[in-house]
Amino acid sequence: MGVTNLPGGPPGLDSEPARPVIEADGLHKTFGTIRAVDGIDLSLTGGRIYGLLGPNGSGKTTLIRLLAGLARPSSGSISVLGTAMPSRPLLAKIGYMTQGEGLYAELSVWENLSFFAAMSGQRDPDALREILDIVELGDRRTAPVVELSGGMRRRLSLACALVHRPPVIFLDEPTVGVDPVLRYQFWDHFRGLAAAGATLLVSSHVMDEADRCDQLILIRAGRVLDMGTSDEVRRRAGTPDLESAFLKLSGIPGMDGSR
Ligand SMILES: Nc1ncnc2c1ncn2[C@@H]1O[C@H](COP(=O)(O)OP(=O)(O)OP(=O)(O)O)[C@@H](O)[C@H]1O
Ligand SMILES: [Mg+2]
Repeated sequence: MGVTNLPGGPPGLDSEPARPVIEADGLHKTFGTIRAVDGIDLSLTGGRIYGLLGPNGSGKTTLIRLLAGLARPSSGSISVLGTAMPSRPLLAKIGYMTQGEGLYAELSVWENLSFFAAMSGQRDPDALREILDIVELGDRRTAPVVELSGGMRRRLSLACALVHRPPVIFLDEPTVGVDPVLRYQFWDHFRGLAAAGATLLVSSHVMDEADRCDQLILIRAGRVLDMGTSDEVRRRAGTPDLESAFLKLSGIPGMDGSR
């Protein structure tokens, strides 16, 4: 995208390396005997889209909730924008789209959006209208959520996560159930947010989405298997495509596409 030297953005050719926006050190989260996050270190910089990939139960949602300050780690530390997490004041700077549905079914589209906007300090109705247009729900603003289709609810959840224009954005499988055209538009929007300096961490099981990320973080059983660009991950795995790389790194024999 050719955007360099934005404050907090990606490093330009002549600039100092950007300071990390999200840092995690020795992160662990256990639930009883389950090690959902089992020793993760991260250093994520602004102006980039990070793709978080991993099989079901590998710890993606748990990791996102820890980084977003919604759960406390069993051990290890996290800082976001230089502030130790969890931090209540920082919630206004964080956008989080949950994997499940966090909407109020009886309230309308507009009421849901207004609620989330107020929670994060966004008082400008133009910001609400703008994000509703982006997710193409402007004409459904008075409809109660219970009357929306599944994909429309995902779109509204995304709008609620982005309405306060946060610089740090966590999206947990944001495009599940979203049709291909809108999915494409969402990714263009994510790219625009990154170009303006935001840091995005997006979990996904869709490999063509993973290809649109600047950096990939592959996890399994709560640990990072590999991290790098899509090309780097493929090269290190020695596979022709990302899906095969992922299968190979996951240790599934005969599934690496190299036969
Ligand atoms: N609140 C909880 N209580 C107990 N166990 C939990 C809890 N949350 C997550 N786990 C466990 O932690 C592990 C990681 O779960 P997590 O939801 O982070 O996986 P995920 O990578 O997001 O999976 P998916 O792709 O299915 O969304 C799983 O074994 C899960 O059962
Ligand atoms: Mg999950």
